[in-house]
Amino acid sequence: MSAEDQGERGHGQEEGRGFTFSRFARQDFYKAVNVHLIQLLEVEPGMRVVDLACGTGAVTKLLLERLQGLRDSVIVAVDASAEALEIAKRELSGAATTAVEFLQARAEELAERLKETVDAVVFCNAIHLVEDKAQALREIAQLLKPQGQFAFNSTFFAEAQPPETERFYLRWMSRAIRILRRDHGLRPSREVKVTARRPLSVEEYRELLRAQGFRVRRLELETVPVPLEGWLGISEFGDFIRGALPGVPLAEGCRALQEAVIAVFRDLELQAVPRRWLQVVAVRSPGS
Ligand SMILES: C[S@@+](CC[C@H](N)C(=O)[O-])C[C@H]1O[C@@H](n2cnc3c(N)ncnc32)[C@H](O)[C@@H]1O
Repeated sequence: MSAEDQGERGHGQEEGRGFTFSRFARQDFYKAVNVHLIQLLEVEPGMRVVDLACGTGAVTKLLLERLQGLRDSVIVAVDASAEALEIAKRELSGAATTAVEFLQARAEELAERLKETVDAVVFCNAIHLVEDKAQALREIAQLLKPQGQFAFNSTFFAEAQPPETERFYLRWMSRAIRILRRDHGLRPSREVKVTARRPLSVEEYRELLRAQGFRVRRLELETVPVPLEGWLGISEFGDFIRGALPGVPLAEGCRALQEAVIAVFRDLELQAVPRRWLQVVAVRSPGS
């Protein structure tokens, strides 16, 4: 599975309703990888932080924990998807101490939509979904105060798949395609435009950051064993299904991916499949 498999977005499309990131976001390994990034963020009272591409609010919750007890902190949770924001609002309705504001907007229009500058932007597990990354980074740089922090992570970059896991992905996708054909006479479309992009390498991310006036403060590659429940969860995420099986209706795609991954785990006697996460904290250089 490459970053291409993250597919095209379908924000606001009725067909995408219900196919959210929630099941994947509930997993312990996923929480741990995001907690690690949030811990790398330097925090202080009165901070204004954007949780960009907040999705259903999993990282927003971690940010709330990190900012707990810091007076006057504000989190602005931003996502392109109205459906994800609705869920995030419900999930976070109990949050008391830190104010959370919500905004439906795309990363590529961030500074235009959020007038007030911020101390930090956190962008978890979504940068690979953005087609024009240079534009998104320009907006983030514009929104940040000088020395403001930009923290992001992703598991869809060129070095994300350890070579020994290639067999798993090949088997998973070919099995899912066979199931689709067998059960529904369907096959992924070659015509459907997949917005997803070639996965960037670590060096390309470094260069992108430098070009937009960021200095990298911390960059780590973390290897995470992803259990079956993780693959079942990602198979319910609309963006993922569209990328892996372009043009296939989400319900059928989800079921085929899930049935296939269960079979591959069984056949290869797997406990987990390791995957690398890129974790980065950069700082907006003064004067940029
Ligand atoms: C995989 S989820 C990540 C959610 C959360 N940040 C996390 O780490 O758990 C990706 C989210 O990115 C959002 N997204 C995709 N492209 C976007 C864009 N260009 N601007 C803002 N949000 C975007 C999707 O709507 C989705 O909610």
